[in-house]
Amino acid sequence: NFVVDVKETGAEVQPDMYGVFFEDINFGADGGLYAELIKNRSFEFDQPFVGWLPFGNAEVKNENPCFDRNPNYVRLNETGLRRGTGLENNGFRGIGYKKNDTYRFSFYARSLDGGEKKFGIELVSSGEEVIGRGEILVSGNSWEKYQCIIKSNATDAKGKVRVVLRSAGEVDLDHISMFPTETWKNRENGLRKDLAEALYELNPGVFRFPGGCIIEGNTLETRYQWKNSVGPVENRPLNENRWNYTFKHRFFPDYYQTYGLGFYEYFLLSEDLGAEPLPVISCGLACQYESTECVHVDDLEPYIEDAVDLIEFANGPVDSEWGKVRAEMGHPEPFNLKYLAIGNEQWGEGYVERLIPFMEVLREKHPEIKIIGTAGPTPDGENFDFLWPKMTELKVDLVDEHYYRSPEWFLANAERYDSYDRNGPKVFAGEFASHHETRDNNLRAAISEAAFMTGLERNADIVQLATYAPLFAHYDAWQWKPDMIWFDNLQVVRTPNYYVQQMYAHNTGTNVLNITADGANITGQDSLYASAVIDENTSEVIVKVINASDEVQDIDIDLKGLKHSIEKAEVKITCLHSNQPGAINTREAPNTLVPTHSSVWADESGFKLKVQGNAFYVCRVKI
Ligand code: AHR
Repeated sequence: NFVVDVKETGAEVQPDMYGVFFEDINFGADGGLYAELIKNRSFEFDQPFVGWLPFGNAEVKNENPCFDRNPNYVRLNETGLRRGTGLENNGFRGIGYKKNDTYRFSFYARSLDGGEKKFGIELVSSGEEVIGRGEILVSGNSWEKYQCIIKSNATDAKGKVRVVLRSAGEVDLDHISMFPTETWKNRENGLRKDLAEALYELNPGVFRFPGGCIIEGNTLETRYQWKNSVGPVENRPLNENRWNYTFKHRFFPDYYQTYGLGFYEYFLLSEDLGAEPLPVISCGLACQYESTECVHVDDLEPYIEDAVDLIEFANGPVDSEWGKVRAEMGHPEPFNLKYLAIGNEQWGEGYVERLIPFMEVLREKHPEIKIIGTAGPTPDGENFDFLWPKMTELKVDLVDEHYYRSPEWFLANAERYDSYDRNGPKVFAGEFASHHETRDNNLRAAISEAAFMTGLERNADIVQLATYAPLFAHYDAWQWKPDMIWFDNLQVVRTPNYYVQQMYAHNTGTNVLNITADGANITGQDSLYASAVIDENTSEVIVKVINASDEVQDIDIDLKGLKHSIEKAEVKITCLHSNQPGAINTREAPNTLVPTHSSVWADESGFKLKVQGNAFYVCRVKI
């Protein structure tokens, strides 16, 4: 029997406990959530025609540019060649078109002699058929924005777009862009609706962004600088993506960050999702996997200033320098930033030295902001034990721990936090994922995460935030797996790991309840794991049970200390289960593993649960 003590309400569970960690890895932002369909829209990649196929007379120039921070543009000169003059763009591993959907195509242009010039815009299928046409007339010799809406008459995941100059003469083009007209909340510089919806349905409590390793960069120069990611999109300077190559020797010479999805958009998305924004900023050390480059501790001032200004950008009044930028972008109300993480996966003494001056300034200027530091274990499991005492000494509010480990590790670590110091900083499980030997997002991995998370929940007095990682992966452009959500240019596939996070995030409750078997926490006896919470607002007890074995098990769940009998109360059950722990969701069969819903009836003081093997159950009952 499992016994849930409903009378002894325990620690508060933070309402933002379960969330997501977003990073532009695996085409997560450019080519993914950010709905821009044109790759290298500003010709700023190191090789300016990457992503483009120019034909006729086309050359890249940068004199007298349209955008000073993205100065390159293309000059087309139509002299009557047989194929004409223009450009094709292949998008991000193709452009996804849907039949009858419309696309907003735009560019900035100037006609060198000022005369009218005609452009044909063609949506082209993977079979080279024109499946949509638009037209733009350019006139005048100063830069202007032009746009047209084009309807696609076919569905194709790997199309392209062709821009053809149909008049004689010279025209300059820059920031050639195309978005589906339908985006998340229908914003023009918007997000892919299906991917944003997948995030919304997850119900995340916290949104950690923009990395991960990309905040630090391969070099200090290429670190993520949030100030470059706000203001007009056309003038946000391009940066390389730290994930343009990896230790797995996969090289993506076409992986850059346009910052079209920048800090303003991240804050806005957090707000849309009802999640607390949690930005991470550089602490003055480059990515430790790539470089030992660092800023001298005495020269950290600009980095610290970036942190202080970020708080002003998020929360400051509209007449402050950075609050004004936010207001001009369309959000005069503050974003109510509460958390700020300094550094990512920095585990050496150099990190501590640099965190100290950040802490001093931030504590003085912004005592209301919760500061998040970082400590082990490394993704490979190495513990940097000296760091925790340092974090305690510095009085950071939370410590960000990462673990990418085997399912066995997750199953064996459901007690990890039972013995953590209750007087030190709180824990943010900022990146975790169970890495099965196949590195698949299979049920076995997901079940082990669910089991491990009972330990996060049981220790909610100290574990306050948890985010699976990474979030997104494009089927044709990933460099890291497993990932929570997979997609291609048209389709989204939610993994069982997604459903585990969703089942937790929709069933957070407000306070921990004690659940035991024979007086002990349920942390793997007979391969069973369990945790329980109460939702004080709805008077519901929520019990989570995981069976990590293959065997069906019958369990009685007793609710001890009820004020009145719950006989005939409905126990609503959500279950993620399959008899095949190696099963995964695919593009062909995306719903192989999805939660199912059922109910049982309680008797006087509890209910019975037939627990399938390889299963995660959430049971809710009103008391
Ligand atoms: O999630 C992928 C990477 O794993 C993150 O960028 C980094 O923090 C960790 O090493």
